[in-house]
Amino acid sequence: MHKYETRTIIQTNSLRGEIVVPGDKSISHRAIMFASLAEGESRVRGLLRGEDCLSTLKAFQAMGVAVEEKGDDELIIQGRGIGGLLEPEDVLDCGNSGTTMRLMSGILAAQPFYSVLTGDQYLRKRPMGRVIGPLTEMGAKILGRDGNKKAPLTIEGGGLQPIEYRSPVASAQVKSAILLAGMQVEGTTTVYEPHLSRDHSERMLRYFGAKVKSFDGGARVTGPVALHGREVIVPGDISSAAFFLVAGLIVPGSELLLKNVGINPTRSGIIDILQQMGGSIKPLNQREVSGEPVADLLVKSSPLKGIEISGELVPRAIDEFPVVSVAAAFAEGETIIRDAKELRVKETDRIAAMCDTLGKLGAQIEPLEDGMRVIGGKPLTGGIVNSFGDHRIAMSIAVAALCASGEVLIEDTGCTATSFPNFWELLNAIRG
Ligand code: S3P
Repeated sequence: MHKYETRTIIQTNSLRGEIVVPGDKSISHRAIMFASLAEGESRVRGLLRGEDCLSTLKAFQAMGVAVEEKGDDELIIQGRGIGGLLEPEDVLDCGNSGTTMRLMSGILAAQPFYSVLTGDQYLRKRPMGRVIGPLTEMGAKILGRDGNKKAPLTIEGGGLQPIEYRSPVASAQVKSAILLAGMQVEGTTTVYEPHLSRDHSERMLRYFGAKVKSFDGGARVTGPVALHGREVIVPGDISSAAFFLVAGLIVPGSELLLKNVGINPTRSGIIDILQQMGGSIKPLNQREVSGEPVADLLVKSSPLKGIEISGELVPRAIDEFPVVSVAAAFAEGETIIRDAKELRVKETDRIAAMCDTLGKLGAQIEPLEDGMRVIGGKPLTGGIVNSFGDHRIAMSIAVAALCASGEVLIEDTGCTATSFPNFWELLNAIRG
């Protein structure tokens, strides 16, 4: 559980400098998981040391995986092979992390032992039926609270069959849970999704030597696979960079260079959105690292205009909508976000949370069932707002506060440690 803290943010003149954002959260989880399931040693650099990823790391250590810190940026993981995990002696605590709980459900559903997954007060409210359903269809024995929909979950693993599954939601956590179960079972497992969600699992499983096929509309794996220990370099998290992209655009006179950011096309929707709004963002020095595309992003303050966002763009920017709503509040005209009902089941209901917090600061923002409508250009004032314990809400409000006319007190900001432990230090550093 994160620490309770508050932060006060005041208006700033311009933001300048170079920033290295921490490692990608999604890729860090997968690096720990796949290295643990691989045969042999893996060396992981650039891993995010946020609370979510530490939950994943502790869970695998509790199942017998040996992990050694080398220097301040390398983790050496001795994989146990797919059949080598040990039954954990105690409940596995996923903390605030949906990725830990849902992907682990897929992994554990195929392991021949008993395990229990729980999480913090926020995670225990989030929908787990979306992974329990298909995993149960594969033959898993999973029980959860609230009619098998919520954590804590108990899993009696083993005895699975492959599946062909049409997911009703574009969710990388659902897709990954099924592929991770399927890869441990004899036969072909296929997941179809309504729009392409992030494909880090598919890319990294291939990088570790598994035959996983991505196709238009889904992904497929034929099990059982063997994974082989690798060296993984985790790129910076575009979802963390997003706060500085928006800050750099809305604070007049700013110029920021965000170094080493992952720009996987299934994640780079935020760049497309902000460019469509008129933002000057240039990807420089594009390259590929451990199977993922990476670039440095140069952002300069720009006048923004409102746009409409829906469809396939939504899963490509799903974690960025809190900060997109901040950009929209400073844009000229109306921004409409649709097809984004998933925002209601994130770490908190992010539609309600952004309407509440930005509304309190004077923005014209209204909730839609599946998104929001923001009329930009109303000056923001100071005020007292709450993060609802959600890291991305806390950081989005901090960005908005850089351009508010009065002091903004944000309550419950310790949650930023979930994904971005040094957010406040970096923000201070570029304010000069
Ligand atoms: C994630 C997938 C997304 C995203 C989350 C991380 C992942 O969730 O919002 O922050 O690492 O697979 P959904 O699968 O629920 O869309």
